[in-house]
Amino acid sequence: MRIVILGSAAGGGLPQWNCRCSNCTLARSEPDRVRPRTQSSIAVSADGSDWLLINASPDIRQQFFDNPQMHPREGLRHSPIRSVLLTNGDVDHVAGLLTLREGQPYTLYATRGILDSVNSNRVFDVMAEGVVARQAVAMDQRFEPLPGLSVTLFAVPGKVPLWLEDETMEIGAETETTVGALIEANGRRLAYIPGCARVTNGLRDRIAGVDALLFDGTVLYDDDMIRAGVGTKTGWRMGHVPMRGENGSIDALAGTAIGRRVFVHINNTNPVLVEGSPERADVEAAGWTVAHDGLSLAL
Ligand code: MLT
Ligand code: MN
Ligand code: ZN
Repeated sequence: MRIVILGSAAGGGLPQWNCRCSNCTLARSEPDRVRPRTQSSIAVSADGSDWLLINASPDIRQQFFDNPQMHPREGLRHSPIRSVLLTNGDVDHVAGLLTLREGQPYTLYATRGILDSVNSNRVFDVMAEGVVARQAVAMDQRFEPLPGLSVTLFAVPGKVPLWLEDETMEIGAETETTVGALIEANGRRLAYIPGCARVTNGLRDRIAGVDALLFDGTVLYDDDMIRAGVGTKTGWRMGHVPMRGENGSIDALAGTAIGRRVFVHINNTNPVLVEGSPERADVEAAGWTVAHDGLSLAL
């Protein structure tokens, strides 16, 4: 199985267009200290030829340009992307669908709830019915978005997308609005969980024994955004478990058998983004890789 991390940042990317936090400032002035990163997306392949895109970021056009495996390679119009899967309906995971609209056939997979939130917004009609097939997938049911590559979705603690929040919304609920994906090919297993509010026993059981885990690295501590001075929201309020601190994912997953541990969906305020920082050294010493754009894994 081949995996390319097309975008390793959370919503907003790094630098974020309107942000002057220290990381965003360094990403502009000293890109060797804080590498710029695009928004959250990966591509997975069983054979290195046909690819499943998981999450379609607003930066998708640049991501495809930067990664030659994603270039068209036959005839006048072609894409190696055969299927697209969504793990939630957040803007950073669905806005790129608007770029994938030029009459190129593929199948869009998501839970019923995520598909409904996309389909109910008429701007997504630009993915013409009859060209882009929508396939609702049930939780815990294995399906094959590409020959030789199977996926099983499972609910993780999360919340509805920011743009669907209302006074009834619940944080940490395990519903089909936020899912993880277990991906299998050639006897190897990958777990992809870019958004997760809490590490539960069920989650640990689900991912035990995987060859690689790509996991929610939005915040280092629950109050990263407050510390950075850019807002009042905690990681929990955004539906993201911190790496460190109370209920931190690094300790919560320390006893679980996982081949390779990689943080993705990293918010631009996260101190681990600074090359050579003590925070980066700490998470690496705990066995985790902080993803950058273009990082690829072969399992
Ligand atoms: C998130 O991961 O919390 C969302 O992408 C936030 C957003 O939609 O901007
Ligand atoms: Mn996000
Ligand atoms: Zn910033």
